[in-house]
Amino acid sequence: MTTAKIKLLRAREILDSRGNPTIEVEVITESGIRSVASSPSGASTGKNEARELRDGDNKRFFGKGVLRAVDNVNTKISALLRDRDYTNQDEIDKIMIEASDSEKLRFGANATTAVSIACAKAAARTKKIHLYQHISEMFNGTEHAPSFPIPFMNIINGGKHSGSGLAIQEFMILPVSLGKSVKESIRMGSEIYHQLGNILATKINKSAINVGDEGGFAPVLGHDELALSHISDAIMKCGYNIGKDVVLGMDCAASSFFDSSKGKYSIDNKLVNSEELLNYYCRLVDKYHIKIIEDPFQEDDIESFIRITEELGKKTSIIGDDIFVTNHSRITEGIRRHTANGVIIKVNQIGTLTEAIEAARVAFSDSWNVIASHRSGETNDDWLADFAVGIAANGIKAGAPARGERITKYNRLMQIEELSQMSSNLFS
Ligand code: PGA
Ligand code: ZN
Repeated sequence: MTTAKIKLLRAREILDSRGNPTIEVEVITESGIRSVASSPSGASTGKNEARELRDGDNKRFFGKGVLRAVDNVNTKISALLRDRDYTNQDEIDKIMIEASDSEKLRFGANATTAVSIACAKAAARTKKIHLYQHISEMFNGTEHAPSFPIPFMNIINGGKHSGSGLAIQEFMILPVSLGKSVKESIRMGSEIYHQLGNILATKINKSAINVGDEGGFAPVLGHDELALSHISDAIMKCGYNIGKDVVLGMDCAASSFFDSSKGKYSIDNKLVNSEELLNYYCRLVDKYHIKIIEDPFQEDDIESFIRITEELGKKTSIIGDDIFVTNHSRITEGIRRHTANGVIIKVNQIGTLTEAIEAARVAFSDSWNVIASHRSGETNDDWLADFAVGIAANGIKAGAPARGERITKYNRLMQIEELSQMSSNLFS
């Protein structure tokens, strides 16, 4: 008989990095362990994501309160999971999945995500190992040497994440040359970020270094390509070699600049069709050493995804976020149709840790690039770093190397690197 039993789940409404409500869950076990986890929240969401439950009561937080999700954890989910073995993540998640609907709206994917992660944290503590080790065991079925993701740092924010007017949502740097050391990669990223700040403040003005939702700068540039050009200048000014030490990436989040009434994309004050947008990307890829393009087309334009993967997939990873929404069957279909060759994994996009791990496993099975990702609305919880290391993700998206809710993930990554180099177990 197991002693690893859940005694109580307790949830509360907290604020995320945008100042909007989100949910924090505490798991209290029979043995007295208390673990806390919170759910992030996206702004540029795929239409097939698991759904957050929000109150819709306009008298509180303009309808964005999460008291119903909180109540679901305190009553319904708590009743379902009481006395269950929280070290058995599959079972915990399965219970929530089976009692929920396909969109997870009955409890709210915000509620199930926080419960799922809080249980994993409690399990790691019970096993006297770190969360990344526990997730790695879940992922591999056995203990595995940790493998560290490349930080994908989003240093210029556009799209729905800022008022910069840039169509493309994220301009990222990937410090790859020192990829063996997380600490060095993060140092490089931080230096480039600050150098970029100097360039923007000098060439434009100080307001150009105001930041967007993910901590990247939000300059009004007029043309998206200028973002890539300023970033390239910053990399060179820092003495790094573009293409060797650092490569670039973009999350276009193209659904957000697709004008469905005209069937065209609106970028650089022009309306372009998917063919023209593809040509635009092809030109940028060669000019700026772009190795990652996420969501280059709107999420229903599968044919264009297939075309760009065919055209650029050998030299640049074509990553699907909104089209796959961390859903293993959508990824399986993407593999079959060659819709992309990489995927973003966001736990709250599907609502449980088990399903997110399954989605990553499917993507790895076809050698896709797997990127563990934060959301634009984040909390100071750092579980994402453990998740990324645990599933041996190729990359981690945690925003700019600035703002508390972003750097807590990068700092945890550096801590894990140090821990993994020490032979002794912290808990022993
Ligand atoms: P979101 O967007 O967290 O605002 O949904 C992030 C992304 O598109 O990767
Ligand atoms: Zn995205």
